[in-house]
Amino acid sequence: MSENPKPLTHVGIIMDGNGRWAKNRNLERSQGHQAGVKKAIEIVKHASHRKIQFLTLYAFSSENWSRPETEVSTLMKLLQEFLFSELPTFIEHQVRLVTIGDTQKLPLFARGALHHVIEKTKNHTGLTLVLALSYGGRDEIKRALGKLLEQAQKGDVNSKTLTEEHITNALDTSFCPDPELVIRTSGEFRTSNFLLWQCAYSEYAVTETLWPDFTPQEFDQAIDSFHKRDRRFGGV
Ligand code: IPE
Ligand code: IPE
Ligand code: MG
Repeated sequence: MSENPKPLTHVGIIMDGNGRWAKNRNLERSQGHQAGVKKAIEIVKHASHRKIQFLTLYAFSSENWSRPETEVSTLMKLLQEFLFSELPTFIEHQVRLVTIGDTQKLPLFARGALHHVIEKTKNHTGLTLVLALSYGGRDEIKRALGKLLEQAQKGDVNSKTLTEEHITNALDTSFCPDPELVIRTSGEFRTSNFLLWQCAYSEYAVTETLWPDFTPQEFDQAIDSFHKRDRRFGGV
């Protein structure tokens, strides 16, 4: 492992390419998703080992509901299996689980599993694993605006007193800092609606590697390259 000055506080990953990975091997898309879950477990352990504070995994977007019903249902079942099989890992590594996104839309069995694992891990002091589920940046901003309109109706905020902090605090991610780094696998240069507000000054690392083939070494390389970048935040 490479020696870095200071562990990053927040890394986001757009885990893309499960379908293409399966297609390349003449397998079903569901088998690609299965391989993707295995990879997620490996990377969670690695990030925890690297003392990253928050790891956000984009697991299911608000737009992914438009996929065929069979694929959506496979993904929901895999989520449930992942949660139950990995609870011992979360306990061993002190991983705390939280979610962002409109999780009310998830089927009851998946919400039940989430609730169970979130409760069991809520006092853990290691890595916070943020699962983005039924998550979309625009949907999140819309829901945040709804909260702010309610605050305005109560007289807690108005157009003159409104600050960026009000918006930050109304987002699903109010508990964590903005990601310093976002990794996207499978070569696409787009955000696909991931953390739109929060990534204003995040650095991006795009790799051609399909998510099931991603490695802890590549994760380390992305962090190494992050440390070599000159982050100016609009200054000189
Ligand atoms: C990412 O892999 C997993 C989810 C979006 C749930 P994809 O299923 O998008 O894989 P590709 O992009 O079709 O290869
Ligand atoms: C982004 O991947 C969403 C997740 C990784 C959950 P998609 O495969 O849904 O994104 P697009 O369709 O390539 O933009
Ligand atoms: Mg994709």
